[in-house]
Amino acid sequence: MTNEIKQADRELRDAIQAFVADYAHPDLERFKPGIAAWSSEWSQVPAVRLPAADFLTGSLATAVPATTHMVELLKRYADDVKWEQTYTKADSAISEKMLATYGFVEVIGSRGPFVSDQVRSGIGVYGPGIGYPPHQHKAEEIYIVLAGGAEYQLDGQPPRQAGPGELVFVPSNLTHGFYTGKEAMVVYYIWQAGDLREVSTFV
Ligand SMILES: [Fe+2]
Repeated sequence: MTNEIKQADRELRDAIQAFVADYAHPDLERFKPGIAAWSSEWSQVPAVRLPAADFLTGSLATAVPATTHMVELLKRYADDVKWEQTYTKADSAISEKMLATYGFVEVIGSRGPFVSDQVRSGIGVYGPGIGYPPHQHKAEEIYIVLAGGAEYQLDGQPPRQAGPGELVFVPSNLTHGFYTGKEAMVVYYIWQAGDLREVSTFV
């Protein structure tokens, strides 16, 4: 058992921390302390690759200067990190196309690699032409698009196209979903407050 933090995890953590610290947005302020105050606890998670990682090369072309580093880092370490999915074929609301093309890499969360029971944060990839149907969860959530984009639909708000560098804030329990277009979307996310392992409820 080694306590030496894996390079991929350390660099992703550093990039996320710098990215959030530099990003000015009123809705992000409440999330900043949780990202700045990392737990020093780190646990090794197994490397698992999913097909979603294959989009990262093409996504570099749709990133903007502020987001390129995060996409590039994830591409560089795509084989060294744990790609996950929350949903399975048993979740009838989720299309087979979404299951075939999405995945996320958690950098901070209750199961590590940086262990926190306050914040869940990482980077997700969603293939072109998929819909993440309307769902809700207790945690409040921030999305910041890193590459590509999607049309976000938040309950009670007009649909909104979010592209690279743009932030979408989802209040606790607000129904939300999104639909990617011709490009895959790479998106940075933060969850805080609420059960961080809660599986979203489709509505
Ligand atoms: Fe969500």
